[in-house]
Amino acid sequence: MSDTELVLFLLPSILSLLLIFILFQRKHARFNLPPGNMGWPFIGETFAYLKPYSATSIGDFMEKHILRYGKIYKSYLFGEPTVVSADAGLNRFILQNEGRLFECSYPRSIGGILGKWSMLVLVGDLHKDMRTISLNFLSHARLRTQLLREMERHTLLVLNSWRENSIFSAQDEAKKFTFNLMAKHIMSMDPGKPETEQLKKEYVTFMKGVVSAPLNLPGTAYRKALQSRSIILNFIQQKMEERIGKMKEGEENLEGDDLLGWVLKHSNLYGEQILDLILSLLFAGHETSSVAIALAIYFLEACPSAIQQLREEHLEIARAKKQSGEKELNWEDYKKMEFTQCVISETLRLGNVVRFLHRKALKDVHYEGKERDYNNV
Ligand code: HEM
Repeated sequence: MSDTELVLFLLPSILSLLLIFILFQRKHARFNLPPGNMGWPFIGETFAYLKPYSATSIGDFMEKHILRYGKIYKSYLFGEPTVVSADAGLNRFILQNEGRLFECSYPRSIGGILGKWSMLVLVGDLHKDMRTISLNFLSHARLRTQLLREMERHTLLVLNSWRENSIFSAQDEAKKFTFNLMAKHIMSMDPGKPETEQLKKEYVTFMKGVVSAPLNLPGTAYRKALQSRSIILNFIQQKMEERIGKMKEGEENLEGDDLLGWVLKHSNLYGEQILDLILSLLFAGHETSSVAIALAIYFLEACPSAIQQLREEHLEIARAKKQSGEKELNWEDYKKMEFTQCVISETLRLGNVVRFLHRKALKDVHYEGKERDYNNV
């Protein structure tokens, strides 16, 4: 073969390689991604990202990455290329552009645990419907009357169970309190009853899996959580069937006033959707509130003057109630708790209750003049 023949023979391959190289370069030039580390193939940095850390900090992973790459960096998490943002400006921009540039998108593993009808997984009209149903249930009137009364009853129940000079875990007590409150409001379940305790036990296993690495292998927290999810759903299903039976027989009682009764009466959701809604509300309400309560206790301990001011505010309300001969807390009392509200706001500002939110970019996004391929944030 002559030199000319050899060049002609190799020309298509050389041109193809050149084309691939140019396209590759263009693709990367087009996406002005932030710095970062994509970690190991397939798993990326997921395990380091999920490593537990104190809710009073942002964790070792975040601290080290921010130091190295800044507040916005790229990574590979939960099987997807991801941009992580600890930047208040970008976070505000993302949430302000919800539905336009970004949409809620949690890792598939979370969908597997919370269910495909969970509000954290749904988008669009179905998400709006689920949100409306939940918001209508938590109406202002209900908060003022039932929720406030139940809140007081459950608080007293926990406080009265404490023995003088005994040691207890604030976090466990906060979890007990919020679980009992949620179980009551969602399915009219009473604290201390065997079925409530059984549900609580399964829920603890379920919860450990929600925040674990999504490995569906024998013995993993994720696999155990999936098993607990089925047990919990069977339990809710049973409750739902009992309730439908009672409703058919016209047995209208206080039970119908819980979320299960509300959804059955006021929505067109079908069985599987109701089960996921109930489970995800139990999760959303319990995990967040219990951590916030435990954190408030933790922060207050370091600030005796705030404890003093809090105590004075509550004693003042108690004195006024005693004078008027009233017993139960009402909405007016709640509105007087201005300093208490400040303590709650400060706790939520300092504490890390919800550690990350997930969003998917619907198109290429320009932020601060740079075009970035923000697929997952
Ligand atoms: C300190 C208490 C709480 C905190 C810090 C908190 C925080 C949050 C955050 C950050 C989100 C947004 C998630 C996202 O968009 O990706 C969220 C959503 C949600 N939370 Fe809470 N939450 C708290 C209490 C509760 C309670 C008590 C309930 C119910 C009884 C609840 C029900 C929900 C629901 C249903 C959603 C989904 C809303 C939607 O997707 O439209 N949360 N919460």
